[in-house]
Amino acid sequence: MKKILITGAAGQIGSELTEQLRNQYGNQNVIAAIHSNSNKKASITKPFCTLDIRDQYSLQDIVKQYEIDSIFHLASLLSAKAEQNPQLAWEVNVNGLMNVLEVARQNNCGIFFPSSIGAFGPGTPRDNTPQITIQRPNNIYGISKLSGELLCDYYYNRYAIDTRGLRYPGIISYQALPGGGTTDYAVHMFYAALQTKQYDCYLKPETRLDMMYMPDALNAAINLMQADSKKLQHRNAYNVTAMSFTPQELANEIKKHISNFEVNYQIDPTRQAIADSWPNHMDDSAARQEWGWQPSYILSSMVEDMLQQLEKKLNN
Ligand code: SER
Repeated sequence: MKKILITGAAGQIGSELTEQLRNQYGNQNVIAAIHSNSNKKASITKPFCTLDIRDQYSLQDIVKQYEIDSIFHLASLLSAKAEQNPQLAWEVNVNGLMNVLEVARQNNCGIFFPSSIGAFGPGTPRDNTPQITIQRPNNIYGISKLSGELLCDYYYNRYAIDTRGLRYPGIISYQALPGGGTTDYAVHMFYAALQTKQYDCYLKPETRLDMMYMPDALNAAINLMQADSKKLQHRNAYNVTAMSFTPQELANEIKKHISNFEVNYQIDPTRQAIADSWPNHMDDSAARQEWGWQPSYILSSMVEDMLQQLEKKLNN
C-alpha cells in the first residue's frame, strides 16, 4: 500500500482509520473521501475530497488524480437506517461497492471491504458461528453485506483483484458516533452513563451480540491488508470478534465504575428483530490462523478505557 483512499472517512470507523493510516503511511498518502452532505466537512483535514459513492465517474477521477493503489471502502448505510430506506441501502451498499470494484479493476487497486455480523441470518447457528455456514439474512443491510462478500469473491476469482474483508461485530468507540446501526446502543450507553446516569435501551437486556473496541477494529483492517496474500484462504469475509455481551452485562460492567447508573428497557421492534437474527458469538479461528488476528481488549478493559477517554472528551 502506497497511496490509500478511504471512502466513508467521516464515519465512525473511517475517521479513526484515516488518522491511524496517516500516522503509518504519511498524511499525503492517505486521501479521505467524505460525502458532500457530511456535516463533518469542517473537521476533516487535508488531503480530502467529496464523493458520492454512487458516482463511478467521480470515483474514477479521484483514483487517477491521486494515483491510488489501495481503497478502504467504508461508505455504507448501517442496519437500522438501511431498513428505513431499502432502495437507497442497495444503491449505496451494493451499487457503491460495484463502483469501487470496477474502478479497482481498471486501476489495479487492492480493496478492503467491511462485511458484518449482519451477513448472517435467523437460520445461522448462533453460538460459535462458523466461518463457513448458512447465510440467509432477512434484512436489507445483511443482504447487501452478503452480496458484497460474494462480489468481492467474484472480482478476486475472475479478475485477480486483491479484495480482502472482515465480518465486523458492533464497534465501540468514543471519537465519532456510529449512525443508524443496531449495535449503537453499546456506544450510547457510555454517553448516558457519564451525562445523565440513565439510559433507555432499545434492545432486550438478554440480547447477546459480538462486539469490538475501536483500536482492535483498526488493527484488524490494517493487519489484514498487510498480510501475505497467499495465506488468505477466506480472504473476503473473516469472522472477527473480541467480546460478546448483552446490554445487561454491559450495564453491570459500567456500574462497577458509576454505581448510580440506571438502565431501562424500551424495545424497538425493528432493531430487536435485526439483533435476534445475528449470532451470539462468532468463531474467528480462521482469522487467527491465516493472518494472526488477536484482539487486545476484553469487556472490562474496554469499559475502563472507554469511560476514561469519553469523560476527557466530554469535559473538553
Ligand atoms: N454495527 C452494525 C449495525 O449495527 C453491524 O455491522 O448495523
